[in-house]
Order: sequence, then structure tokens, then C-alpha cells
Amino acid sequence: MGKKKIGLIGGGQIGGNLALLCVQKQLGDAVLFDIPQAEGLVKGKALDINQLSAVDGYDCRVTGTTDWKQVAGSDVVIITAGVPRKPGMSREDLLEVNLKIMKDVAANIRTHCPDAFVINVANPLDAMVYALHRITGFKKSQVVGMAGVLDTSRFKCFVADALGCSIRDVEALVLGGHGDDMVPLIRLASVGGVPLTKLLPKEKIDAIVKRTREGGAELVALYKTGSAYFAPAATSIAMAESYLLDRKRVLPCAALLEGEYGIKGCFMGVPVQIGAGGVEKVYELDLSPEERAELEKSFQSVKKTVDSVKL
Ligand code: APR
Repeated sequence: MGKKKIGLIGGGQIGGNLALLCVQKQLGDAVLFDIPQAEGLVKGKALDINQLSAVDGYDCRVTGTTDWKQVAGSDVVIITAGVPRKPGMSREDLLEVNLKIMKDVAANIRTHCPDAFVINVANPLDAMVYALHRITGFKKSQVVGMAGVLDTSRFKCFVADALGCSIRDVEALVLGGHGDDMVPLIRLASVGGVPLTKLLPKEKIDAIVKRTREGGAELVALYKTGSAYFAPAATSIAMAESYLLDRKRVLPCAALLEGEYGIKGCFMGVPVQIGAGGVEKVYELDLSPEERAELEKSFQSVKKTVDSVKL
């Protein structure tokens, strides 16, 4: 069996880190694709990463290219092509420019990678993955958006720091759209099996929820020229890995809902099982009336953006 091929569309900050992780985790050979103006950037990153392989003896390679033919036949495609936020911008402000890019990218994926498992990372996340699915016409199991794993990682990180405990023992789940009204499920958060509500006072938990919701903006304000890239790359790779190794991990991802959680025809963050079959299952939770109301609010925000997607 040959090595797996991972197409990385967009060779910017997240794209470069994705390529590095593909090699370091030996997931497969990565093809880092970008527009002709960025040819030097992707060829440079590929060369730089390949030279690092000697240190630990990695056998996977990165190719930098501006030619879709080299991306053809990828097992997994991860899309980060698009413009990141600048301070003061919302993710929705990116819709017009990133949708234009998505139209081009999705059409090429349909042509060149018809069997790939496709993970979208570009923002506004839930609307972009909706556009990707519509343009490609791929099965719903084949198309997914990365956001919930990142939002959940941020939440876990803040909890572990607040308690001074290992992040490994923090269990949490963030549902909903990748926007300011995402839904961290406090009731289900726990540390080593102990409910979070027993471990931290309400004000502390509320502050963690707020910081999680504004987690992307916090990094945009610090970086000033773009948005987060290390954690978004790592969380996307967790999804790709679950598919490639058939791990069947249950991860919060933007998946097409067809009645689950009372939502139809929209992509939004819910727990899904990712294995060799792609999105194999959507897990449904019994939500309290308050949680349901919060999810509905998040859905209405996603829907508003999706309604302005003109294909
Ligand atoms: N095809 C391929 N690549 C493209 C295209 C296109 N049509 N248009 C733009 N790109 C490339 C850019 O040239 C750039 O190298 O996408 C890359 C984006 O990289 P960065 O600007 O560094 O952005 P990054 O931080 O990686 O974020 C990318 O992910 O998290 C989201 O909001 C973020 O939408 C943004 C995306």
C-alpha cells in the first residue's frame, strides 16, 4: 500500500503548519497548493520542511505547487485558501472575498479530487463549508468543517489553566456555529470525571465561556496581521488523522444536518464520528431547554450568513 496523499489548498500560515504536521505525524505526502503569486512561498515551505525530515528521519514529503494536477487524487483535502481576519473584523466580514476563492477551489476539488475527504477551515466557517458542499455536489459524509475541535481545545486549555490540572483530563464540548454565539456545554464539561461546575465558581466558568467565544478575536488582536494558525492546523490534522487511520473519533465538527438537533439543510458544529467512511455518524445529545435555545440562536446566526451565499 502506497503512502496517503494530502492536498493542502492554501499555503499560508495554517497551510504551512498543516504540511509540517503531515510530515511529523507521518500521515502521508502533502501537496501544498497556492495561487501563482505564492509559488515561491509554497515551494520554499516544501523545501524547508523536507530538509527538516533528516533530523528525525521522516519519510513523508511535501511538494509545493500552483498546479491542480499535482493535487489530483488526494485522499484528504484541507482548505485554508482565503483571507484571514484583521483586528476589528468579524468572520462574516470575510464572506464576499472568501466565497469567491471557495468557488474556484471547490470546482477544482470536484474535478481533481472526486473521492477525497474534504475538510474546510476557511471562514466564515459554516457558510464556506455549505458552499463547498453545494458546489462539489459531494456526499455529505465527504465534506466537513473544522471549528468545533478548535473551539473545544480553547475551552479545555482555559479550564486546565484555571485549575492548574492536566489538559488531558479535561472533557468538554463546544457546539454550534463558529461564531460569537457558539455553545460551550458547561453541564457536560468535567475534569477527571468531576463536573466542572463543582470545581470552579460560576463567574470563573462564565469568563472561560466568554474567552472561548472570543478566542479567535483574541489572537487576531495579538497578531494584528492575521488570525490563529498553530491550533487551527493541529485540530484540522486530528480530523484528517481520524479519517486516514479509521480512528472513529467523535469530534465536534461542522456537518450537514438533516433534521438532527431540529436543524435542516445547514452545516453546524455537532459531535460526529470520523472514520474511513468520512462523517460516519452524527451523535445527538439531549439538550436542556436553555442549551436548545442557545443552539437555536447560534443556528440563526449561521443561517443569516448562509442565506447571503449566492452560488
Ligand atoms: N487557491 C489557493 N490558495 C489561495 C487562493 C486560491 N484561489 N486564494 C488565496 N489563496 C491563499 C493565499 O495566497 C494565502 O497563501 O490562501 C493562503 C491563506 O493563507 P493566510 O493568508 O496565511 O491565512 P491563514 O492564516 O492560513 O488562514 C486561512 O483559514 O482560519 C481561516 O479565517 C482564516 O479564512 C482564513 C483561512
